Amino acid sequence: MNLPDMKQARLRTDKKVEYKDAQNIKSDKFKNKKYYLRTYGCQMNVHDSEEIKGILENLGFKETEELERADIVVLNTCAIRENAHDKVFGFLGRLKHLKKENPNLIICIGGCMPQEEVIATTLKEKYPFVNIVFGTHNIDELASMILEEDKHQQIEVYSIEGDVYEHMDYVRDSKITAWVNIMYGCDKFCTYCIVPFTRGKQRSRKMPEIIKEVEDLKKKGYLEITLLGQNVNAYGKDLEEGYDFATLLEEVAKTDIPRIRFVTSHPWDFTDEMIDVIAKYPNIMPYIHLPLQSGSSKILKLMGRRYTKEEYITLYNKIKEKIKGVSITTDIIVGFPNETDEDFAETLEVVNTCKFDGAFTFIYSPREGTPAAKIKDSIPLEVKEHRLHELNELINAYSLMHNKEYIGKTEEVLVLGPSEKGQNKVYGYTKTMKLVNIDDAQDDIGKLIPVQITDAKSFSLDGKKAIFVQN
Ligand code: 5AD
Ligand code: SF4
Repeated sequence: MNLPDMKQARLRTDKKVEYKDAQNIKSDKFKNKKYYLRTYGCQMNVHDSEEIKGILENLGFKETEELERADIVVLNTCAIRENAHDKVFGFLGRLKHLKKENPNLIICIGGCMPQEEVIATTLKEKYPFVNIVFGTHNIDELASMILEEDKHQQIEVYSIEGDVYEHMDYVRDSKITAWVNIMYGCDKFCTYCIVPFTRGKQRSRKMPEIIKEVEDLKKKGYLEITLLGQNVNAYGKDLEEGYDFATLLEEVAKTDIPRIRFVTSHPWDFTDEMIDVIAKYPNIMPYIHLPLQSGSSKILKLMGRRYTKEEYITLYNKIKEKIKGVSITTDIIVGFPNETDEDFAETLEVVNTCKFDGAFTFIYSPREGTPAAKIKDSIPLEVKEHRLHELNELINAYSLMHNKEYIGKTEEVLVLGPSEKGQNKVYGYTKTMKLVNIDDAQDDIGKLIPVQITDAKSFSLDGKKAIFVQN
């Protein structure tokens, strides 16, 4: 059976965003059935998966980590770089075999990948065993797509920029930390980035709903929330209410939830008011992820980032100066089309100036449909790989340098669970988002405890439980 044509509507229309209540359809049709969910990509996808879990569990499914035992498999996919696709197509090969053994297996693909037209077409032509394909804008429809079998074999992805749904039944992964969406989509259109196409135009949630969600999480005992958006600093710009991210942050801080984080920031929308609010409230964590992308103003212009190298450094210094003890991490792309040795040297120079606490680094990956993908590129892959290696060495050296500054200090750590580093160890994060492996604190999972830092590596700290937090 072939997948029929997708219901496709143009992205980025003038459609007015509607604010609706989620359907939260409940049924016991799949009472004894199991679901297997695999998530690729960013925190936004991780949080979308919590929504998908809510939908599946409302239909009666229970989660299994054993793929072979699943009655339904859902892949929540990522499109940001080409290698994200490769992983999904690889996994689909495995699912094809499973489906031969169990023809009743329902296979669903959602997330960012199917929002790309070329992928939707590929799925239709080459992966006809996939039952349901849904997008990022219509997760809410997944329940009815599963329940109504005539909706199987259907691709429904491009539904024009979605509406904002409130009061969804999430099944959250943690009882200690929670994601809170403050907005969907992105209006920045960086020239390399597929996100404004896969997730549509910016739609902010209304502030009272966000505050209600945070208060509810606090009542349930959550100790930390992370406000989520592709560009949190632009929060509210699409609303008529007149409030912005500074207003929102301040209102969230006033709920007195112990720890507040936010990702991701865009330098262009970062105002002095936002810095002041972060500096003012002790429950807003002194940690900012501030993507640089490139240290060359020429490349930044080609990327459509709207700031120069100098403007980035000025903002960086202002944040460092005003927010006591802040740690700043970044994202950097190497090998943007025609990035010269000189451009790359400028990136290294900015890294040497800012001395970031850490960075996610990527080789540029052309994404079909984005403006940058049309630029003819003359830089060989080996050169790009070499640049990435050189950049990572420098980044890691600064991470280690910062981490070593913690040795001997006592830091407040939120303990999240057993550590991968072995028995009797648990892990957690400092206010500044440093990962700490802690000895003999198994009884402290879910607590904020003082930890004395005993050792430092590039990507983590070691510590032991202490008596008090030094100032
Ligand atoms: N190629 C490489 N990296 C990319 N990113 C976004 N789009 C691309 C692309 N086409 C990186 C950016 C962004 C992070 C989430 O992913 O650095 O900040
Ligand atoms: Fe992509 Fe730029 Fe939007 Fe970030 S700000 S999601 S990089 S378009």
